Formats: sequence, structure tokens, C-alpha cells
Amino acid sequence: MSSQFFFLGATGYIGSQFLESAKRDAALYAILKEFNLVALVRDPESAKSKQLQEVWPGVVLVKGTLDDLSLIEEQARNSALIFNAANADHEPSIKAIITGLQKRSADHPSGPKPLYIHTSGLGILSDNSRGEKVPTERLVYHSDTTFKLEDFPPTNPHHSPDSIIHAARVQKENPIRAISVYPGAVYGLGEGITPDALLPRLFVSLYVQTGVAGTWGPGHNALSVIHIKDVGTAFVKIFKLALEGKAQDVYFIADDKAEPVVAKPFAEEIGKILHAHDLLKDPEHKPFPEAVTNNFGEIGWGAFGGNLRGIPDRLKAEGWEPTETAKLSFWDSLPLEVEHFVATYKASRT
Ligand SMILES: NC(=O)c1ccc[n+]([C@@H]2O[C@H](COP(=O)([O-])OP(=O)(O)OC[C@H]3O[C@@H](n4cnc5c(N)ncnc54)[C@H](OP(=O)(O)O)[C@@H]3O)[C@@H](O)[C@H]2O)c1
Repeated sequence: MSSQFFFLGATGYIGSQFLESAKRDAALYAILKEFNLVALVRDPESAKSKQLQEVWPGVVLVKGTLDDLSLIEEQARNSALIFNAANADHEPSIKAIITGLQKRSADHPSGPKPLYIHTSGLGILSDNSRGEKVPTERLVYHSDTTFKLEDFPPTNPHHSPDSIIHAARVQKENPIRAISVYPGAVYGLGEGITPDALLPRLFVSLYVQTGVAGTWGPGHNALSVIHIKDVGTAFVKIFKLALEGKAQDVYFIADDKAEPVVAKPFAEEIGKILHAHDLLKDPEHKPFPEAVTNNFGEIGWGAFGGNLRGIPDRLKAEGWEPTETAKLSFWDSLPLEVEHFVATYKASRT
């Protein structure tokens, strides 16, 4: 009987890119085809779910949301492999996944440890500079070879869910394997079911709603970025290492050190495009007022107002290179992405 691979977020930007990238890698594709793929989807009749069935014929769609905890726990208990690319911070569903996997481990004490691959984010590295200038000599690039959760404040983005995962990773009783992956800010049009990146989706909507091309604080902070196709190949590499039993490492950063993106010019560029489309009256960049930043709490300050700079030493040691990031820079891609998202946005309003 085939083992089950449970996938949360298979229709998303990262999740659906992973499927495209995995199909292109003959070795991984052959391994994954041995599993029964079960995907959690909110609506099995939606256009995205239908696309998913075309992308991965034979996929079993399970209707549910991240709040259907007993369903998630039950699916996890039946699974040898889980990939979560749905929501890095939804703690109840992460706990349900872990509980289910631990129960599986208890059910099969002499079997292989069930494997959980979790998509987290570089917000964990935030220096919480609140958008202020930080002297170059104090800017830190963190390598995944030295990464330790306890080096970062518990209030940093993703810290709390990642600590839950880490506690399960080191637990001796009912052991599971858990790998946490930290992509930088992902950009570029994806090849999967959801082509639009999170940043334009989030910021175009936010700028239009608030009427401000804003940043958290003055916007001098910068984020490491990575092209979506490179995120796809990074996950392919991590899955192969993990499934072939070669990944002893539990943390992988997936970004590119080359060109961290500064928040202020990012806001200015999007503001200019939205202004040209009559979607924003005043294109000039400003710090967001508290009324906006308060909606995102301290996590917003950590993720959007801090410096997030990572070095993917582990993936590089395995021969992975962010080749697409080198071919199409963030700044060359951004106008294409914003125009693409604006067209979708306008079409949805007519
Ligand atoms: N994109 C980035 O730049 C980036 C960088 C670092 C980390 N991450 C993390 O990676 C994860 C995925 O990011 P993404 O950009 O791929 O996001 P995305 O495009 O919004 O995809 C999210 C996926 O999760 C599903 N999903 C979301 N909420 C759900 C719910 N309540 N119930 C069931 N399914 C749900 C979505 O289903 P539908 O198709 O039904 O919407 C979709 O398949 C997030 O946790 C994000 O924080 C993203």
C-alpha cells in the first residue's frame, strides 16, 4: 500500500510552484509518485482545485480549512510525509499536524519517522530596526549553518510556531522528523496555480485601501529576496535530501544574499505604478500611520520594519544556486508583477 503525502497549501504561490518544480525533477517526481497525494482545499469545486487535479492527476482533495483541526490531525496520522505551505503562523493547525504525526509514530514504533516539511519565513531574523537606518557594520547576515531559534527574540515573526515544531523535533518519545525552511521575500511570476507573489498582492491592496504608499517607519530596512522558481528548486533539493535520508540538517534558509530590497524604494516603485493606473492619488512614499501598522501588531513591525538577511549556506553546500534570481532581478521583475496583479485586481472589480 502506498504511503500518504498530505499537502497543505498546494494551490498557493509557493505550494503550486513546488509541484511544477518537482514534476521537472525526474528523481523526485518518481519518489513522490509512489505516495498518495492528499491535498487540503477549501473548496474542491473551485477553479484552483480543478487546476490542481490537472497538475497532479490522482490527487485526493480533502475539503477543509486550517481550522478543521481533527481532520488535519487525522490526515497527519495517516501520513508518512507532510508539506505545509499554507500559513507559517497558524499555530492550531501546526499543533494538529504534529499531534497526528506523533500518533503515527506511536502507532508504528519500529517504522520510519514521519517527516514534516514546514514553510516558515525570514521574519524570524528581524533586527526590529523599525525602519530606521542601521550602520552597515551592525547589519548582520545570518547563515542557516549557525541558526538557532533561541538567538532571536520570542516576539519575532514565526518564533512561536517554530518553537512548537522544534520541541517536537527534539522530543524522544514518538519521534518525528521536522525540517523548517525560511524563504526570503519571494518574487517573480510563478509557474503554478497562483502566479502572483505575496508582496504585490499584499501591498497593492494595502496601498489602494489606505491611499498611502507606506512603509513601517521610514523604510530604510531591507529584506533578502528570492525568485519563486529558485524557491521551487530549493524545496526540490530539500525534499530529495530528506526523502533519501541525507538531510540531517533541520533548518534551511532559501534566499539570495545578492541584493536585499530596501522598503522605501519598494513603496515608491509600487506607488508610481498605482498612481499611473489612477489607483493611488498621492504616489509619494510615507511612513504608514499607526492606524495601519496597529492592524499588523508587533509581528508587522518585525516582518516589514526590520532587516531580514539570510545566507543559504546549507543549500549552497548541496549544489543549489539561485539561478533565476541572478537572471531576473527583483527590481526588473517588480513592475511586471505589479502590472499583472493590477490587471487581476481591476478585472475583479468590474
Ligand atoms: N510568498 C513569500 O514571499 C513568502 C516568504 C516566506 C514565507 N512565506 C510563507 O509561506 C507560506 C505560503 O506562502 P504563499 O506566498 O505561497 O501563500 P499563498 O499564495 O497565499 O498560498 C497559501 C496556500 O494556503 C492555502 N490556505 C491559506 N489559508 C488557508 C486556510 N485557512 N484553510 C485552508 N487552506 C488555506 C491557500 O488556499 P487557497 O488557494 O484556497 O487560497 C493556498 O493554497 C505562508 O505561510 C507564508 O507566510 C511566504
